[in-house]
Amino acid sequence: MRKRVFVSHQLPGDGLAKLAEHCELDVWQGEGKVPRDYLLEHAAKADGLVCLLTEKIDRALLNVCPRLSAVSSMSVGVDHVDVSALNEKKIPLGNTPGVLVDATADLAFALLLAVARRIPEGDQFVRSGEWEGVSWSPTLFLGHSVAGKTLGIVGLGEIGQAVARRAQGFGMKVLGWSRSQRDIPGIRYCSFDEVLARSDFVSINVALAEQTRNLFDQKALARMKPGAILVNTARGGIVDESALAASLETGHLAGAAFDVFEREPTSRNNPLLHAPNFVAAPHTGSATLDARTAMADIALENILAAMTGRPMPHCFNPEVYA
Ligand code: GLV
Repeated sequence: MRKRVFVSHQLPGDGLAKLAEHCELDVWQGEGKVPRDYLLEHAAKADGLVCLLTEKIDRALLNVCPRLSAVSSMSVGVDHVDVSALNEKKIPLGNTPGVLVDATADLAFALLLAVARRIPEGDQFVRSGEWEGVSWSPTLFLGHSVAGKTLGIVGLGEIGQAVARRAQGFGMKVLGWSRSQRDIPGIRYCSFDEVLARSDFVSINVALAEQTRNLFDQKALARMKPGAILVNTARGGIVDESALAASLETGHLAGAAFDVFEREPTSRNNPLLHAPNFVAAPHTGSATLDARTAMADIALENILAAMTGRPMPHCFNPEVYA
């Protein structure tokens, strides 16, 4: 009998058509995030589930899904999934590493440059007509130099290393810290505190896990070099947003740029959005057609493998196969 797969969103590429040749598909057709009730009702009838990072895959969901034998997330991060609960049930979890590395590193660097050179503020200034009254001036929109400065990278996985390569191209010195010491050419491995104290720019590229939740709390932010700039393209929850807003307000940090927030979508009332030296993006690190199509393809290859009795090619918890 053909296995049934619930897919929580329409996906780019032709992977869904390929999957339909082997499985019975049930695809959420709505816009935005699938409502939790709908997810539970449809996952409950499925053998396989393809989800996004916006769906919580927790014990409550697994408890109503007696047939579920595989979960495939179209994301590299899996902090939305209770991996221990899946492990207990020997359910493989697929994710999509590799294919979004360059897109995410590009966005990290775009945000770094945007906040350093005040691009959104300047854009607004031109659009609003304010420039017409001022003309060119030697001190108009002075920002921060990038070349010759020090970038600290927190998290030296594939994305952190790709950010480092970009920084080297911009003539920056690169320091790095990750939970396990890594010896990577062009990156000076340092303690977390040293990265904070010595970096003019800090890029967060570490996964959200128990050990990294609130890593940038009020104390860590206070240890950052005065006038530094913080860029987060990893996950909300790693930075205490209220403490960061206070730090931007006192001027201890010169700026910050985030693609990810504690709660997403973040509210327009988030105090960070009231700081002129804060640049926001709506979690678009991997948002290029190439990267998103490749992510969808991998997510669908993972579920197809699981539904046809093969190990997932990109499995986050391969121990379930032991
Ligand atoms: C994006 O944030 C991802 O985890 O894929």
